[in-house]
Amino acid sequence: MAASHTTDPRVIRVGMLGCGVVGQVLLKLLDKHRPDFVRNGFDLRLTHVAVRDAAKARPGLPAGIRVGTDPLAVAGARDVDVLVELMGGTTLAVEVACQALARGVPVVTANKAALARHLPRYLEAARSGKAAVAFEAAVAAHIPIMEVLERSLACEEISVIKGVVNGTTNYILTFMERAGCEYADALADAAAKGFTEADPRLDVDGIDAAEKLSLLALKAFGAYFPPEAIHTEGITRVAQADLRLAQAMDHRIKLIAAARQTQQGLSLRVHPALVHKGELLADVDSEFNAIIIEGPAFKELTFLGKGAGQLPTASAVLNDLVKLAREPGHSALPVFARESATGLRLADKDNVSLCYFLRLPVKPADAWRAIERIGKLGLRVLSNAQVETGGTTWLGVIVDVVDEPRLLALLPQIAAIPGVQGSPVFIRLDKDNYRDIVDREQSAYFGASLERKPGAGI
Ligand code: HSE
Repeated sequence: MAASHTTDPRVIRVGMLGCGVVGQVLLKLLDKHRPDFVRNGFDLRLTHVAVRDAAKARPGLPAGIRVGTDPLAVAGARDVDVLVELMGGTTLAVEVACQALARGVPVVTANKAALARHLPRYLEAARSGKAAVAFEAAVAAHIPIMEVLERSLACEEISVIKGVVNGTTNYILTFMERAGCEYADALADAAAKGFTEADPRLDVDGIDAAEKLSLLALKAFGAYFPPEAIHTEGITRVAQADLRLAQAMDHRIKLIAAARQTQQGLSLRVHPALVHKGELLADVDSEFNAIIIEGPAFKELTFLGKGAGQLPTASAVLNDLVKLAREPGHSALPVFARESATGLRLADKDNVSLCYFLRLPVKPADAWRAIERIGKLGLRVLSNAQVETGGTTWLGVIVDVVDEPRLLALLPQIAAIPGVQGSPVFIRLDKDNYRDIVDREQSAYFGASLERKPGAGI
């Protein structure tokens, strides 16, 4: 039963930086949930807001709030107990948040770009001021992944954390599949619907996903690597023919962000990847996000939810505020069991071995010969398909695990195969072991019990 407080609620004064679309929704949520706060013995009361244009009408702002244009003044105000940073940017926003933290004022922020690029500054300021910095809203908005990594899995060993963490690119890829159009038309639709960042290159070049991966890796592995250290490729090269060929071979193409413990160190990668239709990530459509965590104790945990949008983001900010209000001593610094993982090194990003998808323009009559010749180059072709777009016949093949440098070296030889009419394009699979896919298909077909029977001969 909820505690009912008869004494006056403990008032927590909130300073807010930025009052755009997310800020406006947050105001509504604060209002809506006030009875819940009060019933639980506290109240979150907005005292200061800093905006770019103080003269602009903001109907959602309660009377009596001080509205100014100086974020530093809000961060330094005596009547601010917690700061919410929704102004964005990677310079002043960092300065303001770190000043507040160093003064002992906790900060709630959705600013993934600032956090991922300047995390050591935030952590240092938070340590010196003994204040928490909470950023659930910065990664996959309404999927409570930070909370899970910080608390529910605080003592767990994690081997992989990966997922679809950029809603815009997932929307674009889904749109391309459904409308049968090319990338540029799908991007225009995503922009018209308001999904893209102010600078869409942050989405489509994979930068937004790399920022989120940097924060996920911090919580999952206790090691900080900035987005620049992450192998990052976007979706701008993905063509309609790739999607159709992938479909024909039972795969979909997703922008995957993945952090993996490997023998060579921590592998951090963001790039488009073919995902087999039997896998959960293949089913994540439009602006949805999904995150998968793997570890020896729990095997696999999956989270699916709205990763972008005003309400999911504002709601995640509110939940962080409530967490800080209920537990004033809460620390959102790296998870205690993983804080010592500072010796973790980064794996060489060029030296990977994966399965690969290749797309090449061919003369239809020569397609089989081309597949045979690819095999003779030492690549094991596991699957193939053909489609036609704009008068060109495209051959798609999936090849078994190969060292990427070796594959790259073979591409000119593949382009020179008789009947092949141009350079091959390659996209990685989200797999370094195609056997997983085969096993999954067999187990779905025959049933898991048959698969486990000794000597069943599958
Ligand atoms: N541009 C981001 C996305 C917004 O599409 O996922 C949420 O972080």
